[in-house]
Amino acid sequence: MPTQLKYDTSFAKNTDLAIIIAKDAVSQVQELQPEEQNYVQQQVEQDAKFINLNRYSHRVYVLVLPEAKNEELKKEALRQAGHALLKQLKTDKAEQIAILDKTNSQAGLYLAEGLYLSNYQHLKYKTKDPKASTLQTITIADETVNAEQVQELANVLEAVYKVRDLVNEPHSHQSAMQFSEQLEELAKEGGFDIEILDELRIQSLKMGGLLAVNQGSEEPATFNILEWKPENAKNSKPYVLVGKGVVYDTGGLSLKPTPQSMDYMKSDMAGAAAVTGVLYAAAKNKLPLHIIGLIPATDNRPGGRAVAPGDVITMHNGMTVEVLNTDAEGRLILADALSFAKKYDPELVIDLATLTGSAMRAVGKEGLVVMGTAGEEVMAGLKKAGDIVHERTVEFPLWDEYRKQLDSEIADLKNLGGADAGHITAGKFLEEFTSYPWVHFDIAGTAYLHAEDSYRGKLATGSGVRLVYNYLSSQAR
Ligand code: BES
Ligand code: MN
Ligand code: ZN
Repeated sequence: MPTQLKYDTSFAKNTDLAIIIAKDAVSQVQELQPEEQNYVQQQVEQDAKFINLNRYSHRVYVLVLPEAKNEELKKEALRQAGHALLKQLKTDKAEQIAILDKTNSQAGLYLAEGLYLSNYQHLKYKTKDPKASTLQTITIADETVNAEQVQELANVLEAVYKVRDLVNEPHSHQSAMQFSEQLEELAKEGGFDIEILDELRIQSLKMGGLLAVNQGSEEPATFNILEWKPENAKNSKPYVLVGKGVVYDTGGLSLKPTPQSMDYMKSDMAGAAAVTGVLYAAAKNKLPLHIIGLIPATDNRPGGRAVAPGDVITMHNGMTVEVLNTDAEGRLILADALSFAKKYDPELVIDLATLTGSAMRAVGKEGLVVMGTAGEEVMAGLKKAGDIVHERTVEFPLWDEYRKQLDSEIADLKNLGGADAGHITAGKFLEEFTSYPWVHFDIAGTAYLHAEDSYRGKLATGSGVRLVYNYLSSQAR
């Protein structure tokens, strides 16, 4: 059962309550009885951040509004507090919680966000799980926010759950075709359109990159076109989102080693999942923007006919590429989608991809690597959106000098740069296939985690969804 997040100021008296208070205003919290106020005051003076009161019929969790260097970090501290609160709620086996913000700062939204995202669990393949969370409903019950704000947030967070589900799904249950079927279901549920192009259509479109990566596979590739086009769209040119949909990356003939490498590669469609999540949230929230999602999907494996290092392929835009490493497959399928995007005359194209280990080594799990040609205003807007949702971005340059590393002896380009700055040469490769304002997010470090990281959780995180949704919704206003 997914978590419910709703707005209701008339919650039952015996519901468990989380009250957010300001450090210096304990005596003004009427929800606390006088002895409770005294106790909380004492605790606050001893620097407690989290005070647990047991009223027998229900519990009250008092949270002191965190102090932080700026507004963004305060929001993040509240999300983190939500994560800490969930640990306590699990211990107490709570099924529902109502949040009351007594600081008049909309703090409840961020606490709820951290709680909700921390409460994600993937139980599909567990026949039993004694550690499963009991929390089902989070109610924001204070008047500093309104029902629409809560519903918008709930839809975005639900989209994050959907994305995590997609990414956590193992390849045994997710071929490219099965992935497309999953996208189709999400389109139906979210209310956006989808068109799934099969192998024949992909061949007739001459998507040589996608076909080459798919060559060693037993399963056909798909090319998925998602669309949210409301009548009140504010943009005449669409926003196009492109997602890397490698449902499993063995590396192909340039085979990956298993430990901490190939064994994680069911997550190589996290970019595609994020694109789907943004479309889902946009449609559910009826965002007044025309948005298109393009998702090339395939697995990457060695097989009888697999593309081999040294092969030359012809891409959708007619350029030739010498494939020197079959493990640099993401850029090949993305390049075809980026060149296909041209026909929409886009306002902006944003791609999301678990593209390089190099991006992961550069910033670890703490930030998304970003590059682009969209200009300062767009880059600044994305950075701001990232700071607000704490999906922070680190921009890398697309200097001309890096392009030389992609010169091939026999083709227009090779798919492999030198040993250093691999995330940048991957970006330079993609740039060759763009002819419009474009931004590239490399989410290799952030999409899938091997140890719990607060409300981002463990395994799939849903990286990129809240960031891109937030940016787009800021453009819709
Ligand atoms: N899917 C991988 C990148 C990746 C690595 C994602 C680690 C998540 C975690 C990508 O297809 C890949 O194999 N990239 C190679 C490129 C290299 C051969 C130029 C890499 O980064 O090693
Ligand atoms: Mn690869
Ligand atoms: Zn890959």
